[in-house]
Amino acid sequence: MRVVICERPGPPGVLRIAERPVPKPGPREVLIEVAYAAIAFVETQVRAGVVPARGSSEAARTSKVAQAAFPLVLGNAVAGTVVKVGPEVDPRWTGERVVASTGGSGGYAEYALAPEKLLHLIPAELDAPKAVALLADGRTALALARAARLKQGDRVLITAAAGGVGSLLVQLARAAGAAIVVGLAGGEKKLELARSLGAHAVIDYRRPGWERAVWDATRELGVDVAFDGVGGATGQAIVNLVAKGGRYLPHGMASGEFYDVPPEKARDLEIIPLRSVFTGPDQTRALVEEALRLAASGRIRPVIGQVFPLERAAEAHAAIEARRTLGKTLLAVRTGVPPGNSPLHPAQTVRDTLHSATRFAIRANREPTSSVTASSRLIAHLFPRLFAQLPQGSASPLRGAGAGGRIRQSCPDAAST
Ligand SMILES: NC(=O)c1ccc[n+]([C@@H]2O[C@H](COP(=O)([O-])OP(=O)(O)OC[C@H]3O[C@@H](n4cnc5c(N)ncnc54)[C@H](OP(=O)(O)O)[C@@H]3O)[C@@H](O)[C@H]2O)c1
Repeated sequence: MRVVICERPGPPGVLRIAERPVPKPGPREVLIEVAYAAIAFVETQVRAGVVPARGSSEAARTSKVAQAAFPLVLGNAVAGTVVKVGPEVDPRWTGERVVASTGGSGGYAEYALAPEKLLHLIPAELDAPKAVALLADGRTALALARAARLKQGDRVLITAAAGGVGSLLVQLARAAGAAIVVGLAGGEKKLELARSLGAHAVIDYRRPGWERAVWDATRELGVDVAFDGVGGATGQAIVNLVAKGGRYLPHGMASGEFYDVPPEKARDLEIIPLRSVFTGPDQTRALVEEALRLAASGRIRPVIGQVFPLERAAEAHAAIEARRTLGKTLLAVRTGVPPGNSPLHPAQTVRDTLHSATRFAIRANREPTSSVTASSRLIAHLFPRLFAQLPQGSASPLRGAGAGGRIRQSCPDAAST
């Protein structure tokens, strides 16, 4: 079977197609013929070596590169059909259309193993892409919304409001009766999406002075609840926007680091860390079932922004890292890419891949390799018009290289991640 293997931590290019034997399900496991695999944001960080592939969340905060778990096949969420069951598994699962966590890895593959206890039947009203898009993001968004005790009249701030978890949080906050939902996102398309999902105010937090716009949107009151999946300097700014007694939920570090709230500020807030919002396997299971039910009845809408074929997993990772994706990103394993979900423009794809390679080199505290620099120069020279089609306003990794300069200068945002 074909899998996407990640031999070592590195830029998206380390993801490559390989042949592996189809695994055999062990006790209490099933074998799934995978139709779609979802990409989690954190998998791009594991691949890049920013977050250890295994280990505690504390380790995730401190360790830069964890090589021990490599090589590995990433992928914790798959949708497909059960084709074989292992010992001690109810045989009636065979042939069922399911969505499942693999238990951590192995999902970017034509066949994946999953523990029986992590299987969910896909409701008839949902297709496989929607179900797998919801599996992790749905349970996370519901757990966060519950932990935040969202209620009528709340002023709520959501980072990456057009992303997988963020797009669901916007909908849940509106459904809870929030008075003001502020969606933070980078770029026009994302702002439009967050607005279409129900955000009252949408603010581009890649623009300087965005904090002022949040004060204005909340009539100088600040927010009661802030969901922060970005951390770092953005997290710091967000904490300062939370009203006294408000709830701050740091649930991710897309910037590369969490923001450690200083004790004098922490006294004024209720800080609700991610580890406290999940209470155990029974709750996690119930949350997934609930997310599937809510989507089946049309009360929440998973947003699938783009679907890449399995063999283009590297491009998918590059696009996510370059912050070009909307909603959830999926890998189509055997069905091809459905119409309307085609991957990004080819020029963007080349650009994202090079951008990610330079970001990785900078994170690893070394110069981009000569092959990255040489390819950048060559492509910039051969296809200047290709890159001229790209949207304005975002740094191109080719700019420095094409001009013979250091690539580091062309990636201002990468240095802070
Ligand atoms: N999915 C889950 O089940 C789950 C579970 C636990 C924790 N989390 C955490 O929740 C956060 C959101 O997860 P997600 O899977 O829904 O991802 P996502 O929001 O679809 O993608 C991450 C988003 O973070 C934003 N971002 C801000 N700074 C960034 C940077 N330096 N590099 C790349 N992206 C940056 C980008 O949106 P903008 O361009 O709009 O800023 C990007 O689209 C992540 O931190 C993730 O680790 C997710």
